[in-house]
Amino acid sequence: MILIKACIFDLDGVIVDTAHYHFLAWRRLAGELGFELTPNDNERLKGVSRMESLNILLQMGGVIASEQERERLANKKNGWFREYVEQMLPEQIYPGVKQLIGDMKANGLKVGLASSSKNAKRVIQLLHIESEFDAVVDGSMIVNAKPHPEIFLLAADLLEVAPEYCLVFEDAEAGVEAALRAGMKCVGVGNHRQLKNANKVVAKTAQFQLSDLTDL
Ligand code: BG6
Ligand code: MG
Repeated sequence: MILIKACIFDLDGVIVDTAHYHFLAWRRLAGELGFELTPNDNERLKGVSRMESLNILLQMGGVIASEQERERLANKKNGWFREYVEQMLPEQIYPGVKQLIGDMKANGLKVGLASSSKNAKRVIQLLHIESEFDAVVDGSMIVNAKPHPEIFLLAADLLEVAPEYCLVFEDAEAGVEAALRAGMKCVGVGNHRQLKNANKVVAKTAQFQLSDLTDL
């Protein structure tokens, strides 16, 4: 039996529905570029960095753009995303997530956040949950985005817990892969088919219970 000592949460789509805001902003950009982004295609944009998401999107639409143009498009998308985010209220945290984090801490587990987003710190500030985490790693602190394991290894390092004792919560295929490559266990949040490599899949984050820790 593996003893879990730390839980590391992804943010977008695991703690709050900012994954939807990313989708809306990317879809708007695709629309301006003359093609449609479907929810299914959007799965490939999840979890990876802003520029990588953009590159995948441009490839999907068959759009060729210079580095300068890509920079401009990424900034545009980020501006729209920030407009959605700035209207967010603390109540928009997914139901039961604050309770789950509280239960983990009450049971002696450390809790970290590892998000590819450079907006992660602003989002947790708006949700009033910054103080819930023992360590926070965002997109500005890493070189290699998910599915590279760097983000989770850095979080484990800051939490001072060895990777094999860490459990990651992820809604993105790239994130599940990153967690497994880091040598951690992973709970997928969302669709079984998409997240089939995770050790366990729940439809919603708060469906996970501390008693589930024993059968991972
Ligand atoms: C991830 C999202 O958390 O952050 C991706 O799943 C997003 O969709 C990435 O592209 C980067 O976010 P940001 O806020 O730095 O553009
Ligand atoms: Mg996510």
